[in-house]
Amino acid sequence: MAAAEQGVDAARKEKEEEEEEQVVNPWEVSAGKGGIDYDKLVDQFGCQRIDDALVGRIARLTGRPPHCFLRRGLFFAHRDLNELLDLYEKGEKFYLYTGRGPSSEALHLGHLIPFMFTKYLQEAFKVPLVIQLTDDEKFLWKNLTIQESKRLARENAKDIIACGFDIERTFIFSDFSFVGGAFYENMMQVARCVTMNKAIGIFGFNLEDHIGKVSFPPVQAVPSFPSSFPHLFAGKDQLRCLIPCAIDQDPYFRMTRDVAPRIGYQKPSLIESRFFPALQGENTKMSASDANSAIYVTDSAKEIKTKVNKYAFSGGQDSIELHRKLGANLDVDVPIKYLNFFLEDDDELAHIKKEYKEGRMLTGEVKQRLIAVLSEIVARHQRARAQVTEEMVDAFMAVRPLPNMFG
Ligand code: TYM
Repeated sequence: MAAAEQGVDAARKEKEEEEEEQVVNPWEVSAGKGGIDYDKLVDQFGCQRIDDALVGRIARLTGRPPHCFLRRGLFFAHRDLNELLDLYEKGEKFYLYTGRGPSSEALHLGHLIPFMFTKYLQEAFKVPLVIQLTDDEKFLWKNLTIQESKRLARENAKDIIACGFDIERTFIFSDFSFVGGAFYENMMQVARCVTMNKAIGIFGFNLEDHIGKVSFPPVQAVPSFPSSFPHLFAGKDQLRCLIPCAIDQDPYFRMTRDVAPRIGYQKPSLIESRFFPALQGENTKMSASDANSAIYVTDSAKEIKTKVNKYAFSGGQDSIELHRKLGANLDVDVPIKYLNFFLEDDDELAHIKKEYKEGRMLTGEVKQRLIAVLSEIVARHQRARAQVTEEMVDAFMAVRPLPNMFG
């Protein structure tokens, strides 16, 4: 084979390997060397890209600058967001729905992303919010007792409340405590519409999986329907729902959107983010079950410093001389990716990127700035969480009407 042909062949093989390796579902996120191919995901999942026009439209409708997660393309995909905004523009409100699977005592920084963004959406659009804690999901998937899953749900609720949600517009519930009544009726309506074939196609279940797993997706589906919450939305069965989440949760809502019209309900809209990557790099997401991949909201400033210095994958060169000459590869550099999420000042971010890319700034200096930014965010979160009392958790989780939730 000619050398050129061999080269093409090798490149094709490498591309195939990368493509083969990409797995994104609610339980696993992994990709080949090149990191997650988000463009490919959008096409594969059939969602739409968020473009500048849509970001501008959100800014116009809310009368405030778009959140930096939107400005910077970190929330990058959606489903039917334009339709939801068309209705909003005509005076029809909607509600927000998001959630957390309480698998660990502490959230990591990746988990904070959808909650920080949801808080912005709640304030900007002045709409109610339901937050599902899937303690049942984690009981089914992890080696946890029911009591432990319920305890973790309550602990996680404190971290969520610490993000600053408005109690007058927010209802938090745990599945073990809340599922029943109209919510359960909707679950059964959904379950009857999804064949085993379909569930296997969407979620990749296999015949060795216990039936608890197969029975779970309707539980995460039905908070998308207002009739699941009669204490909040009685008489508003057609109210639209918007779900902010990372793109790993998309399979649940593909199923939900497929079923919705068949049972007379509106499809929920979605707004989906990229992953906050693991310290080791963009080929996986930050995961709660690997302590060295993640920065937790409970980490001390010292732990943050050690983790960033020791584990954050650098796109800088091996020697200072080479770095000054070639500069950093920002595409793979984890400190830059983290700053992209959490350094709010656009000008400073642009400056750091330029200096680092052109070799004038060293990895150590970028990491130092990142350590300061993350320590500040984590310390702020810890202060807010310390203020959250058991009574506040009870108040957010009380089954109650939310007076003035659209006001
Ligand atoms: P969970 O607990 O795995 O994750 C909670 C939320 O955080 C997002 N997320 C991330 N976002 C950015 N970077 C990361 N590294 C990262 N890791 C996780 C998830 O997409 C999610 O939005 N089954 C769900 C709980 C759930 C839910 C929902 C989530 C129930 N209903 C509705 C979103 C919307 C779960 O276990 O999420």
